[in-house]
Amino acid sequence: MATGITANKWTEDARIISGEEYAGDFSFEISYPGKMPEDALLKGLPEFRYSSVLNQEMANRLYYGENLDVLKHLLHKEGFRGTVKLIYIDPPYGTNSVFQSRNQKSSYRDDLVGSHYLEFMRRRLILMRELLSENGSIYVHLDGNMTFQIKVIMDEIFGAKNYRGTITRKKCSNKNSTTRTYGNISDYILFYSKTDNYTWHRPAAPWAEEKILKEYPCVDEKTGRRYKKVPIHAPGTRNGETGKPWKGMMPPPGKHWQYTPRKLTELDAKGDIYWSANGNPRRKVFFDNDRGIPVQDIWLDVQDSLNQSIRITGYPTEKNPCLLERIVEASSDMGDLVMDCFAGSGTTLDVAAQLERRFVGVDNSSEAICHIIKRFSKGLERMGDYVSKKEIPKKGSAQMSLFEAKAKYNSRFEGSRDFAVIADDRYIEEMDAILEGFGLKSNPRRAGLNG
Ligand SMILES: C[S@@+](CC[C@H](N)C(=O)[O-])C[C@H]1O[C@@H](n2cnc3c(N)ncnc32)[C@H](O)[C@@H]1O
Repeated sequence: MATGITANKWTEDARIISGEEYAGDFSFEISYPGKMPEDALLKGLPEFRYSSVLNQEMANRLYYGENLDVLKHLLHKEGFRGTVKLIYIDPPYGTNSVFQSRNQKSSYRDDLVGSHYLEFMRRRLILMRELLSENGSIYVHLDGNMTFQIKVIMDEIFGAKNYRGTITRKKCSNKNSTTRTYGNISDYILFYSKTDNYTWHRPAAPWAEEKILKEYPCVDEKTGRRYKKVPIHAPGTRNGETGKPWKGMMPPPGKHWQYTPRKLTELDAKGDIYWSANGNPRRKVFFDNDRGIPVQDIWLDVQDSLNQSIRITGYPTEKNPCLLERIVEASSDMGDLVMDCFAGSGTTLDVAAQLERRFVGVDNSSEAICHIIKRFSKGLERMGDYVSKKEIPKKGSAQMSLFEAKAKYNSRFEGSRDFAVIADDRYIEEMDAILEGFGLKSNPRRAGLNG
């Protein structure tokens, strides 16, 4: 409970800081050397050229290149301004480490620190804001290292009023650590929208059987439907219809009916009112109308794939597809464009495709690009030795390859060739070699994409 300083005392403080010196402006920002003015960044054109190396069908795209440049390319050369409905990024976290994949190959470096890291992120986030549609959203996945500094930067770029919340995710199992602090098992996802008119489908978790029995203890005699009883009145008196008598009864003292007497009569006629032995009415709320338990901002059920006995690509820091499924379903619709410009092993792209969204992915690590192509063309691998060799991947789980997804959704997927691979012209030869390694043939004549 809040105690101590009274409202009057706060008013006094506000008067002091709203004096001449502050001129009533309470906005603030992070400052550091090298912070580029927004307009200079937005005027900057891409430095490199891009060519489609695999597939000319551009509905879904995977770019091999530096994302700052690719974002400028999408903005200035490809007409993507205001077209992206959802951006999820899981960038480097400012941890000063080098990551290797399961096959011991060096995957990517996370070696920017301090203001250098902040400015790296800020420039990309400004370009992402320009690409987002007016009803779009962005999710930025970080850990405790930089979340709080990036929150201030996000407030500057997207506006504090568009901050929708911070999701705390349990990333791994509990640790029996010997360090002199609490086990570090959480990371954070900052959620912002571009405006206050953003796409939102509230995620809900299914009810556990025992919870259903506890929360919905009654069974309707006629229909067999499970229900719970709730009051039909609410606190506060009213002079209008909801304060008038119904069936000769007034609402209890200090209360009003939740519905007009006419609506209550309708509910009663439908059998939706329960009458107790002494004549007290209550409304029946049926379980089959329940949309599940609304998901809150602490997520315990989507730990990283690398910490579970499920199928993965083996890329370091690979995220759980169930995490992305929740985000993509909450903040986009079928046919929308989803972007992940720190794509890694392509979890976001895979989930977006399976949920029939279009995607744009970007990564500048050849190891990441290999993992994405492998994921799309060959599917995922079993996690480790402790996974039963007889295990058959469940159809309908988010762990399917696109080939399996094709069967599930009976959709337009054409296997690995359903997205274009586009490379910065400096990396074309390297990209050709990667494709060859997967038995895929590069485009014979490359289409220039430089407008
Ligand atoms: C944490 S991983 C993403 C993992 C991904 N969420 C997954 O599920 O596999 C970050 C990725 O960002 C990429 N990356 C880092 N800096 C980049 C840049 N400037 N341009 C493009 N990609 C970059 C790295 O190569 C790495 O693959």
